[in-house]
Amino acid sequence: MLRVAVVGSGPSGCYTAQSLVQLDPEVRVDVLDRLPCPYGLVRYGVAPDHEKIKSLQNNLRTVLEHERVRFLGGVQVGPAGVPATRLRELYHAVVYCVGAATDRHLGIPGEDLPGSWSATEFVSWYSAHPDSVADGFVRAARAAVVIGVGNVAVDVTRILARGAAELSPTDMPQAALSALAASTVTEIHMVGRRGPSQARFTTKELRELGALPDTDVTVDPAELALDPAYPDPSSLPAAQRRNVEVLRGWAGAVPQDAPRRISLRFFLRPVELLAEGGRVGAVRFERTEPDGRGGVTGTGRFEDIEAQLVLRSVGYRGMPMEGLPFDAESGIVPNVEGRVVRGHFASPGEYVAGWIKRGPTGVIGTNRPDAKETVTSLLEDAALLVHEDRPDDPLAALRAEGVRPVPWAGWQAIERAEAELGASLGRGVVKLPDWESLLAAVRSAAS
Ligand SMILES: Cc1cc2nc3c(=O)[nH]c(=O)nc-3n(C[C@H](O)[C@H](O)[C@H](O)COP(=O)(O)OP(=O)(O)OC[C@H]3O[C@@H](n4cnc5c(N)ncnc54)[C@H](O)[C@@H]3O)c2cc1C
Ligand SMILES: NC(=O)c1ccc[n+]([C@@H]2O[C@H](COP(=O)([O-])OP(=O)(O)OC[C@H]3O[C@@H](n4cnc5c(N)ncnc54)[C@H](OP(=O)(O)O)[C@@H]3O)[C@@H](O)[C@H]2O)c1
Repeated sequence: MLRVAVVGSGPSGCYTAQSLVQLDPEVRVDVLDRLPCPYGLVRYGVAPDHEKIKSLQNNLRTVLEHERVRFLGGVQVGPAGVPATRLRELYHAVVYCVGAATDRHLGIPGEDLPGSWSATEFVSWYSAHPDSVADGFVRAARAAVVIGVGNVAVDVTRILARGAAELSPTDMPQAALSALAASTVTEIHMVGRRGPSQARFTTKELRELGALPDTDVTVDPAELALDPAYPDPSSLPAAQRRNVEVLRGWAGAVPQDAPRRISLRFFLRPVELLAEGGRVGAVRFERTEPDGRGGVTGTGRFEDIEAQLVLRSVGYRGMPMEGLPFDAESGIVPNVEGRVVRGHFASPGEYVAGWIKRGPTGVIGTNRPDAKETVTSLLEDAALLVHEDRPDDPLAALRAEGVRPVPWAGWQAIERAEAELGASLGRGVVKLPDWESLLAAVRSAAS
C-alpha cells in the first residue's frame, strides 16, 4: 500500500490528495500543514467579502475528511520541524504543495519606509493569519496608493474602500474590523506601470469596484487614450477587451462627490517612496509610454501622488525549502510534470504541485488539473516506489520523535471557537487572530 505525504493543505494540497484517493483505491495520504488550520490561501488570502469563493472550503473539507486522508496540522516541514529528508524516509512519496509564501520587491528607494507595506502583510492582517504581527495600516492615513493592477491589488483596494456595515458580516478578525471601521482613508489610487489593456485583473473583480457604496471610481481618459489598443479594442482578447470597456465607462462618467474615491491610474512606474515626518508621504512615479512590444519605456517626466499608506501589490514569490532544489530566478522548484528535478534528472518519490510548481499565478481551480498532472506522474512511478521499505504508520514514527500534530478534531475545535467568538460579538463566525487563541482552542478539544 502506497503511503504519501502531501505538504501543504491549500488548494493544490487538497486537490493532490483528492486525485490520489480517486485514482488509487488503496493509497493512504497524510496532509501536513505548518498551521493548525487547513486550506492555505482560501482561508488566509481570499478576501473576507468574497463569501462565495470562501465557501470552496466546504469542497476541500470533504477531501480532508476522506477515510484514507489524514490532516496533520501544526507540522512544519523543514529545518525548524520535520526535515524533508526524514519525511522521505517515512513515506513512499512526498508532494510539496507549499505555495509562494513571500512577496516580490520593488527595489526602489523608500520601499521600507513606515507606512509602506506589502499587500501580503495587509492581507495577512485582515485574514487573521497567526504570523501577522503588523497593524496600524490605516492609522492617520487619508490617501493610499496601491502599486500594481492584479486581482490582489483589486482585493486590497476594495477592502480599503468598504465600510463597517459591509465588513461586519464577514469573518474578519475584530481588531481589523474596528481599525477599518475607523479608517479615514478617502482617496485610493491603484496604479499600473503599463496600460489598461495589459492590466492583470479580471473583469468580474474590476466591476465590483464600481458597485461599492459611497465610492466614486475614476479613470483618466488621457491614460486610456495612450493604450496601444485605443481607439479600437476589438482586436484584443475578450478578457482584456472587457476590462477596457469597463474602464471606458468610468472614464466617461461624472463623479458623484461620494465620500470615497478610487482612481485607477496607468502608465506610471514607481521610482521612489518619498518621506514626510519620518514616514511615507508620497510615491514618485515616472510616466511611461508603450514601447510597441507590450512593454513600456520611461519618458523622464515624473508625478508625485500623496499617500500616507502604500500597499505594494506586485506579485508573490516562492521560498526555497531546505532539502529541495530551487530556481531562484522563477521562484519555483524545478520539475517535469510535477516530478522534482535534481541536477538533470527527475527524482522519483519527490513531487510538487500548485504555486511552488508553476509560480504564483492562477485561480483556485487552476490547481486542480495541475495537481492531477503531478498525481499522474507519481502513480506512474508507484510500482517502483511501493517496494521501498517504509514504516507501517509514519505518524507513530513522527510521534515517537516528539512531533505533536493538530488532528482534524483540533481544527474542528478552532471552528467551534470561531463560531462562539462571533456569537459573543453579535457577528457571524469571527476568525481567531493569533497562535495563542488557536492553540488554546485545540487544547480545549484534547482535554
Ligand atoms: C491574496 C490572494 C487572494 C486570492 N483570492 C483568490 C480568489 O478570490 N479566487 C481564486 O480563485 N483564487 C484566489 N487566489 C489564488 C489562490 O489562492 C491560489 O491559486 C491558491 O491558493 C494556490 O494554492 P497552493 O496550494 O499552491 O498554495 P497555498 O494556498 O498558499 O497553500 C500552501 C499551504 O502550504 C503550507 N505550508 C507552506 N510551507 C510549509 C511547510 N514548510 N511545512 C508545512 N506546510 C507548509 C501553508 O501553510 C499553506 O497552507 C488568491 C491569491 C492571493 C494571494
Ligand atoms: N478574485 C480572484 O480570482 C483572485 C483574487 C486575488 C488573486 N487572484 C490570483 O492570484 C494570482 C496572483 O495575483 P497578484 O495580483 O498578486 O499578481 P499578478 O496578477 O501577477 O499582478 C501583479 C501586478 O504587479 C505589477 N508589477 C509587478 N512588478 C512590478 C513593479 N516592479 N512595479 C510596478 N508594478 C509591478 C504587474 O504589472 P506587469 O503586468 O506590468 O508586470 C501586475 O499589475 C493571480 O493569478 C490572480 O488572478 C485571483
